[in-house]
Amino acid sequence: MAINIFEAAKNCLEESNLERKIQLSKETAKRAKQAYVIEKLADWTEPKVGRPIKPALVSPHALPKRGIGTEQGKYSLIHAIAHIEFNAINLAFDAIYRFQDMPEEYYWDWLQVAGEETNHFILLRRHLNNGNYEYGDFEAHNGLWDMAKQTANDALDRMAIIPRVLEARGLDVTPAMIKKFAHIGETGIVSTLETIYEEEVGHVFIGNRWFRYLCEQRGLIAEQTFLELVRHYKLDDFRGGFNKVGRKEAGFSEEELEYMENKFVNAY
Ligand SMILES: [Fe+2]
Ligand SMILES: [Fe+2]
Repeated sequence: MAINIFEAAKNCLEESNLERKIQLSKETAKRAKQAYVIEKLADWTEPKVGRPIKPALVSPHALPKRGIGTEQGKYSLIHAIAHIEFNAINLAFDAIYRFQDMPEEYYWDWLQVAGEETNHFILLRRHLNNGNYEYGDFEAHNGLWDMAKQTANDALDRMAIIPRVLEARGLDVTPAMIKKFAHIGETGIVSTLETIYEEEVGHVFIGNRWFRYLCEQRGLIAEQTFLELVRHYKLDDFRGGFNKVGRKEAGFSEEELEYMENKFVNAY
C-alpha cells in the first residue's frame, strides 16, 4: 500500500530515539517514489520535533571555543558539525511535512536531502565513536532550529533562510575546515567533509530552485526579496566573504553575489 509522504516525513521528524530515527530516516529517504502518495493531510498538526535528551542545548555564546589541536577540541568540532547534520535531518522532513502545497518535485528534492543529511550524521557520528565519544557528549546550540521555527510560516522564508543563508555559509567555511583537518593528518574526517561539501552544494541548489519558484509565483524579484528577508531575520552579517565558486555551482548568479557583497560584506 502506498504511504502518504507527509505522514512518513512527520514520523521521522517526531522520532526522538536516535537509533530509530536514523533507521527510519534512511528507510524513508531510500523508498522508491512509487511507494508514496502526495496527498495533503486533512488534520495537520504542529509536529513535536524529536531529538534525544542529550546533547544539552545552550546559548551559542556559552559554548567554549576550542582549537582542533587537542583531542577534546577536535571532537567538540566534529560534534558541533554532527549536531548541525542532526538538525538538518529534521529540517528536511519538516520542509516536506510543513509545506503541503508545493509541486511534486519539491518533495523528491527534500527527500533526497533528508537521506543525505542522515548519511552526513552517520559519518560524523562514526568519527565521534572512533574517538570514544558519542553524539550528546558535548553541549550544543540550537541556532539552526531557532531559525527553522522563525521561518515556519512561509515556505518562501524557509527556502531563503535555511538553504540560501545557513547551508550556503557551510559552503563558505567548509574548505578552510578541510584544510585544518588535513594539516593535522585527519584524512578520514577530510574525506567525510569533502562528501558533505559536495552534497551541500546540491542542497543549496535545491533551496535556490524553490526560492526562485516561490518568488516567481508571487511576482517577486528574487534578489530584492532575498535581501529584505536576510535583513528581516538579522542575518546580514556576511563577514568573511563568500566561496564564490561553490556558491555559483549551487545556483547563485554572479550578479547576485556581487550585489550581496556590495550590500552586506562591504558594509562592515
Ligand atoms: Fe549536511
Ligand atoms: Fe544540507
